[in-house]
Formats: sequence, structure tokens, C-alpha cells
Amino acid sequence: MVSVAIMGHGVVGSGVAEILLTHKQKLFASVGEEIYIKHVLDLREFPDSPIADRFTKNFEDIVNDIDVRVVVEVMGGVNPAYDFVKRCLLCGKSVVTSNKELVAAHGAELLQIAKDNNTNFLFEASVGGGIPIIRPMNQCLVANNVSEVAGILNGTTNFILTKMINEGMEFDTALKLAQDLGYAERNPEADVEGHDACRKICILASLAYSKHIYPDAVHTEGITKITLDDVKYASIWGGVIKLIGKVKKLENNMIDIVVAPMFVPYTSQLSSIEDVFNGIMVRGDCTGDVVFYGKGAGKLPTASAVVADVVDCVKHLKNRKYLFWADSDNSSVIDYKESVTAMYIRAKADDRDAAYNKAKEIFKDIHILENKDAAQGEIAFVCEPMKYSDILNNIDTLNADGVKVESAIRIGDL
Ligand code: HSE
Repeated sequence: MVSVAIMGHGVVGSGVAEILLTHKQKLFASVGEEIYIKHVLDLREFPDSPIADRFTKNFEDIVNDIDVRVVVEVMGGVNPAYDFVKRCLLCGKSVVTSNKELVAAHGAELLQIAKDNNTNFLFEASVGGGIPIIRPMNQCLVANNVSEVAGILNGTTNFILTKMINEGMEFDTALKLAQDLGYAERNPEADVEGHDACRKICILASLAYSKHIYPDAVHTEGITKITLDDVKYASIWGGVIKLIGKVKKLENNMIDIVVAPMFVPYTSQLSSIEDVFNGIMVRGDCTGDVVFYGKGAGKLPTASAVVADVVDCVKHLKNRKYLFWADSDNSSVIDYKESVTAMYIRAKADDRDAAYNKAKEIFKDIHILENKDAAQGEIAFVCEPMKYSDILNNIDTLNADGVKVESAIRIGDL
């Protein structure tokens, strides 16, 4: 029998307990011994739980219990999770977490502590919920040089955008619906402003390039400014708007990483990923594109990934899984203004023809998006790929010339 502890009995934590209890025989067959939940840490009371007698409010009960070999951290947030995880690793316990904020902020340090203490720190559930992505990238695709990882990494924003695209729902209405359905938090900032997707692409980038990429190095835009007009122009262009987290290794070995809404062409598999689903494309030099798709959030999908890590830890109690990346100072990340992208631009002016002429003069090659329903004086076009700093300068020039830019969205090279 191997004893484990679960820190946190919220949505994911209760799912982990549920799977460990309901899939006991299945897991026994895989591991060869019973996985026994010895403690559950939560400040709340759960008198109706079948393991109500194993709840504790005191972390010391877990860290000081030498029987506990694997600790699951599903509390969320950085504090006190960081301190608790660190202390568990320092005393040789394996730790499994679904906490992307923790991994994105402290992954390198915690991986180093795990290494120094000959134990494991695993976090499959931190990206893509129930979708296997960390282990496939770390093991199955290990022979590849990964040139790019791009994905729809946030279910809430994908749900909102899907409602805008398929049902013509305004952003605010779609957000309210997402909240009513329990997808979006009452404070939806982390999702709609792109911070959640940023943490996830940082974890994937760190894994792909073996050095920690911190969220503060990543230019991050959310979806709050997307309008139904933009959705319409995306369809005229031949695609849909998705919130994409993307990291790319450039020829000079520098890293280009961004989170932003992008026009995704219908030809890309990512364009058909709808509702709360996530999809992640990994481009390997041997495999070509590999796409992972599934439920990126939710109680049992996420708990399934956590339990898989618990099983892995139990099977490797005496030796380490080689999951590691080194710390870094973000110096390999290029300034986002240096990155090259094509851009969709929508603007308003008094005279449409004159505005298009101005756009051609400033941006040179542009592809006009013809919209028979365009509002009076509205223009929309896509420019050729150029440095983001040049795009910003050109937008300033357009604005100064009386062509007021209302929207600018990257064209996803996907
Ligand atoms: N808020 C996240 C999402 C939950 O919507 O994808 C899973 O990380």
C-alpha cells in the first residue's frame, strides 16, 4: 500500500479523491498495490465525504507523516501552495500538481529541488486539463527538435469566442453565459485577459526549450476588445478568431512567444476546436505537426491527469522521472515588438477610398477584405508580415492621417 495526501478538496481535489476511490481496482492492477488516501487538507468541513475522517486542516500532519510518499497539490494559487510543495519535496515526498500558476512562477526551482532530493515533481494537469501534453512532449516527442508549439489553451475564452462566431453573441453576453454555466469565474480577468493561457504556454515553452520562460517575458493580450465586426471580417478572410498561445524557436535560437487573439485559417486544425475544448499543436522536425485535442478543464478530466501522475510517482518511488528544465533570466526571449506577423486592421475614416489609398501608401502591400455590410467609412485589410514595431508605427501614422484604427489582430501562421 502506498499512502498519498491531497491538499485541496475543491473541484479538482474532490475529483482526484473520487477517481482514487472509484477506480481503486483499476489502479491496483496498474500499480500492483493499493493507493491509499491518508490525508486530505482543506479548511472546510466535508462530513458527507466517504473519507471524512481523513480530513485535516493542518499541513504539518502531511509533511511530518513519513508514510505519505506522494502529495497532490490542487489548492491553486501560489500561496501557500509554493511553500507547501517546496517543503514536501525537501523531505523527499513526490509532488503532483495541477497548479499552472505555481509551475509557471516557480517550476525551475521546484524541479531543481525535486532533482536534489531524488524525488518527482509532476504537473501533467497544469496544461490542457485532461489532454496528455506534458508527458507526450517530454517522452514521446523527445527525439524531435520542436520548432513551434501553438494552442488554444483556455476553455473559457474559446467558449466565448465560439458563441460570438457561431451565434453572433456579443462578448459581454457570451461572458455572462460562461459565468452562468460555471466555466468563467465571477472575476474572469485571468481567462479573458489571457493570463491563464500565458502561464500554460510558458510551461510548454519551458519544456520544449529546457529553460524556464517566465510569464512576465510574454506579451499577452486577451479577447475583451474583439467585436462581432472582427468575427465577420475573419470569416471573409477565411477563418475564425481564436486566443492562441504560441512559442517559436527562431533561426538564431531566440524564442518568440506571445499570447493574443489571432485569425486562424479554416485550413488549420485549431480553427475547428470549439466550446470549452482545448487544442495544442506541436511541430517537431521528425514528426511534423502533432495535434492534441480534448477537455482542457473540468473536474474529472483534470483529475484524470493528476491521478496518472500519482500512478507514475508510485511506480517511480525510488527513481526520478527525467522531467526537468533549468532556470533562466528570460534573455532568450525576443522583445515582442521584434516579432514578425501579418496583421488584420479595421479602421474608420470619412472617405473610404482615400483611407484605402492611405493604407496602401503606408503599409505597401495590403489585401482588402470586402464586406458588403461594412459601416459607413469602415475599411479592413490584411498587411503582409512585418515587424510588430513597424505595424505599430504604421498604425500611428494612419491615426494621425485621420484613419482611426479600431482593431488590429494578428494573422496566425498556423
Ligand atoms: N480557467 C481555465 C480555462 C481552467 O478556462 O481553461 C483550466 O485551466
